[in-house]
Amino acid sequence: MVQAKVERLRQLLRELNLEGAILSSAENIRYFSGFTSADAWLFISQDREALVTDGRYWAQAQAEAPQVELIKYSSQKYTSLAHCLGEWLADWHFKGALAIEGRSLSYEAYLQLERHLLERGVATSLESHSAQLDGLRLIKTPEELAAIGRASQVADAAWAQTVKRIEAGMRESELCAELEYQMQLAGARKPSFDTIVASGPNGAYPHAQVTQRPIGEGELVTVDFGCIVDGWCSDITRTFWLGQLEPHLVALWETVKRAHDRGVEAARPGLSGGELDSVARQIITEAGYGPYFSHSLGHGVGLAVHEGPGIRAESSLILAAGMTLTIEPGIYQPGLGGCRIEDLLYLTEEGSVTLSRAPYQILGQAHPREAYSA
Ligand code: CO
Ligand code: CO
Repeated sequence: MVQAKVERLRQLLRELNLEGAILSSAENIRYFSGFTSADAWLFISQDREALVTDGRYWAQAQAEAPQVELIKYSSQKYTSLAHCLGEWLADWHFKGALAIEGRSLSYEAYLQLERHLLERGVATSLESHSAQLDGLRLIKTPEELAAIGRASQVADAAWAQTVKRIEAGMRESELCAELEYQMQLAGARKPSFDTIVASGPNGAYPHAQVTQRPIGEGELVTVDFGCIVDGWCSDITRTFWLGQLEPHLVALWETVKRAHDRGVEAARPGLSGGELDSVARQIITEAGYGPYFSHSLGHGVGLAVHEGPGIRAESSLILAAGMTLTIEPGIYQPGLGGCRIEDLLYLTEEGSVTLSRAPYQILGQAHPREAYSA
């Protein structure tokens, strides 16, 4: 499995005329080696594959990445991972151009690479190819889709438990704590990002911080959450309310729901990310809320919670079977509140499969619990 992925990376290196790659992001290290810690670098050339890590991870690396050579870093012997890797490359007389991941490499680490690889002539150049390297993870295997599906199920199950405890006066932070606790009880290692619970006026911020604000009746509450199971992420948003909604909030929620449904319906291979974004955005624009939909329609989900494909206006990337994506339109009105509804999907040859199963609270329901009996 991992070997087929490494072969695709080698193919990319040949296309880019590079002799090797240094992978430094947790996602790519895991994807191409199986090693699940980020305190390492993975070096891959046409004929070698090696992981530089320290003594704390030695046994773990042997167990998780048995096919990879291990290079032991120790702070007594080397000043940095780059120093250690440079020595190892020089020992076997490696010389060539290398891909690096600019997005996940600190400037400090880059300077170390310059010093220990470029200046000593081991690397002839260091080129950042983050987008191409991450792009190798775009199409998921059936096993990966199953893992993402499990992470999605855990989030759904946690939401079902949490909804039972929601009542007026519950603080955003309590709801957040309950939901994260339930996700862990249901099998998550941790949330895939900081859970968002945004009630009333706080909902006007798409990425609001959780506060101590008590949730009141008649206001929209946006809950955006997800978790990590076996390394794979999920992502879902539900917007609920207690009691009855004011007419302007009803209109806002309805518009978001229609845009969401339109996006889910339209998602299929052959469309570009930009085309899909505009199909759903059009509903919101026509309803007069265009300026209040201030982010892109969605994103891919995998080892990282936000990854390709970007479902946004500028994206010309053509969607293909095996890709995951979220559909998450939202409307955010300063002072009034906001609403977002997000589902996680994957594409098949025929269309899409929606992984998110938590019911949507629909108009006429005065508590999210009622969505479960509908
Ligand atoms: Co989300
Ligand atoms: Co999302």
